[in-house]
Amino acid sequence: MWKDDLHAFLGEFQHPAWGTGHSRRVYELALRLAAQEGMSVDPDCLYAAAHLHDLGALEPYREEGVDHTERSLQAAPAILAEVGFDPARAERVLGCIRGHMFYAEPENWPEDLVFHDADTLDFMGDIGVARLLAIVGKDEWTPDLRSTIELVRRFRLQLPDTLATGAARFIAKARRTEMDAFLEGVSEASDGLRFL
Ligand SMILES: [Fe+2]
Ligand SMILES: [Fe+2]
Repeated sequence: MWKDDLHAFLGEFQHPAWGTGHSRRVYELALRLAAQEGMSVDPDCLYAAAHLHDLGALEPYREEGVDHTERSLQAAPAILAEVGFDPARAERVLGCIRGHMFYAEPENWPEDLVFHDADTLDFMGDIGVARLLAIVGKDEWTPDLRSTIELVRRFRLQLPDTLATGAARFIAKARRTEMDAFLEGVSEASDGLRFL
């Protein structure tokens, strides 16, 4: 079965921000958003996209100066073919990957819309904060703690406006409250971020 072959091919990517845990959450959340929106989606496309969309951020796929989406798009077709994914549906997987980032404009397919929103929501709330803190000092987005806290603050403000579905915007409200609590606590403990 193609999913077993896909996992065998990928191994267990344990990256704290872009590993298999993230893939699983994005897949489950994308399905949930689709159900709440009454959208009919192809779960296999979402599953494949969830496991391939961030490969370009990980070794051996990542490349300095190239957006990880681009690298994921370059790697995905051969992997899909290798594991025997239905070629007739591969284009939708690539569509989900192409439009997944919060700064990308997803195409107007149900899969692309819920996938974009699920990936964006994983940068919000407790889980989003946890992921960002896990990569402090390890990623160009998060060189140190102060800039990471500022990124949390920016994501809190900017990400809800990038969401395509009402269901995702509803979840974003709760996740924003979680981020508020985190930011308030950090600010209070650090004299307004002075002692970070
Ligand atoms: Fe990504
Ligand atoms: Fe992602």
